[in-house]
Amino acid sequence: MKEKKQKQSGIKETWKDSSEADALENCPICGGKGYIIKHSPDAQDTIAFCKCREMDKLKRMWSFSGIETQKNKLTFKNYNAYNTATEEAKNTAIKYFRSFKQIRNTRKNSIAFLGQVGSGKSHLSIAIGLNLLSKGIPVIYMSYREQILKLKQNILDEEYYEACTRKFKTAQVLIIDDLYKGKLTEADINITFEIINYRYMKNLPIIISSEFTVEKLLYFDESIGSRILEMCKNFTVEIHGKENNYRLK
Ligand SMILES: Nc1ncnc2c1ncn2[C@@H]1O[C@H](COP(=O)(O)OP(=O)(O)O)[C@@H](O)[C@H]1O
Ligand SMILES: [Mg+2]
Ligand SMILES: [Zn+2]
Repeated sequence: MKEKKQKQSGIKETWKDSSEADALENCPICGGKGYIIKHSPDAQDTIAFCKCREMDKLKRMWSFSGIETQKNKLTFKNYNAYNTATEEAKNTAIKYFRSFKQIRNTRKNSIAFLGQVGSGKSHLSIAIGLNLLSKGIPVIYMSYREQILKLKQNILDEEYYEACTRKFKTAQVLIIDDLYKGKLTEADINITFEIINYRYMKNLPIIISSEFTVEKLLYFDESIGSRILEMCKNFTVEIHGKENNYRLK
């Protein structure tokens, strides 16, 4: 109810961190049935699928990747800002989420968390993703290493390859977690370019985490790197230093 009121109040609306992404549980449109019956006075009633079905499918895809979409601990709230680097990372993530609606269809609609292992890059990427999901925005989570490996294993299976790359190319929002993780081959670069370039051309947002710096991204492949940097221009966080490895705390 509160959300509806906010929506009507116009463009200035900002989104709060709904750390418990429960909004997905009960669809306000169909009440959780997954379909809507349209009554017609002069014809037969028709049944239409509700759009929450797509969200359900997405939720299942997330859990296949090992990430629960309900009551997940990877929230903004649970991310401790204990120094300036983590403070900046957290603030940038929240600012991105709050501006998402305004920047969504622009060229600079993406965010990148780069650098130090264990600094919470995946944590914040997933927090953004779950918050967007809870606003009904379809987000696809891609564990880079896992998915690239699968794509390479199936590169001769045209149908699989097409369907899988299409999914990552055309997703409304795509999280690429741990970009360039693993041994980098020409095939990795080609697949990554195909996905990034498509999204770049169509202004489709990406949320990227990678242990590599801006410099390294450009060095690995300039055409991919420069596209990513342009898309993430307003929201790039680079974290350096072992003191920012939360796992060592
Ligand atoms: N600032 C932080 N506050 C709370 N938990 C954190 C913070 N940074 C990292 N973590 C936690 O530490 C672990 C490693 O973080 P992760 O996001 O996987 O790091 P990265 O992707 O940068 O390697 C996760 O369990 C994450 O929730
Ligand atoms: Mg990570
Ligand atoms: Zn529904």
